[in-house]
Amino acid sequence: MLIRLDKYLADSGFGTRSEVRSLVKSGSVSINEEIIKDAGLRIDSEKDQIKVREKAVSYSEYEYYMLHKPAGVITASSDKKEKTVVDLIDSKKRRDLFPVGRLDRDTEGLLLITNDGELAHKLLAPGKHVDKKYMAIISGELPSDVVEQFEKGLDIGDEKLTKPARLKIYNTKEDYLESVSEEMQDSYLLEHCEATDYICEIVITEGRYHEIKRMFETVDCKVEYLKRYSMGKLELDMSLRPGEYKEISRAECGI
Ligand code: URA
Repeated sequence: MLIRLDKYLADSGFGTRSEVRSLVKSGSVSINEEIIKDAGLRIDSEKDQIKVREKAVSYSEYEYYMLHKPAGVITASSDKKEKTVVDLIDSKKRRDLFPVGRLDRDTEGLLLITNDGELAHKLLAPGKHVDKKYMAIISGELPSDVVEQFEKGLDIGDEKLTKPARLKIYNTKEDYLESVSEEMQDSYLLEHCEATDYICEIVITEGRYHEIKRMFETVDCKVEYLKRYSMGKLELDMSLRPGEYKEISRAECGI
């Protein structure tokens, strides 16, 4: 791919466009072992070898990070006042990363952070019906036909009913521990669960604002804690603690 040297360096984490222009002017950058002072030069990102202060630069057009989103952080690329999920990715090189989909401030769990717009579209477009699996801790009294109600679709105050959602209910912590593989047993989830609460697994295919919270509100229950475990084939790595992340490949995104 042909790309301007200043963009190539900015995309590789060497600062803003004006910062990298100064870097180039200072004589710190070489192309194929020749010092270059023109930041507007076009280079071939596959063939040319770029070095900054004698160290080879590795360029990636796209980056993909799996984040275990912690509670208390907003799902946005940047914000003047608040810490965002993209701020948590310390090792990022690209400056154009964004979160794929949205989790509420108090929701934890799987969030993909990338700059690959095409991939994001494949995961989010309403027509694609990508499954998103959550675990929720629910207080209140769930009606006996709640599974059927979720399956049929609920009126949550929007123009259309919600798309069919699959709900599995664990009445007690013990039921949850017996039914879920050891690998999936989540100490964070268990910590938040009171004896009178239900633990529910819920799979939805949409991404409406506060969708799951509003679904449970229609049956007079409350989501006390919510965590996303998967999005399509991409599953949260259970070894990541809230706030931790890892870089993954395009193929691992599973779409
Ligand atoms: N549904 C919600 O209510 N909140 C989320 O963060 C995700 C889905």
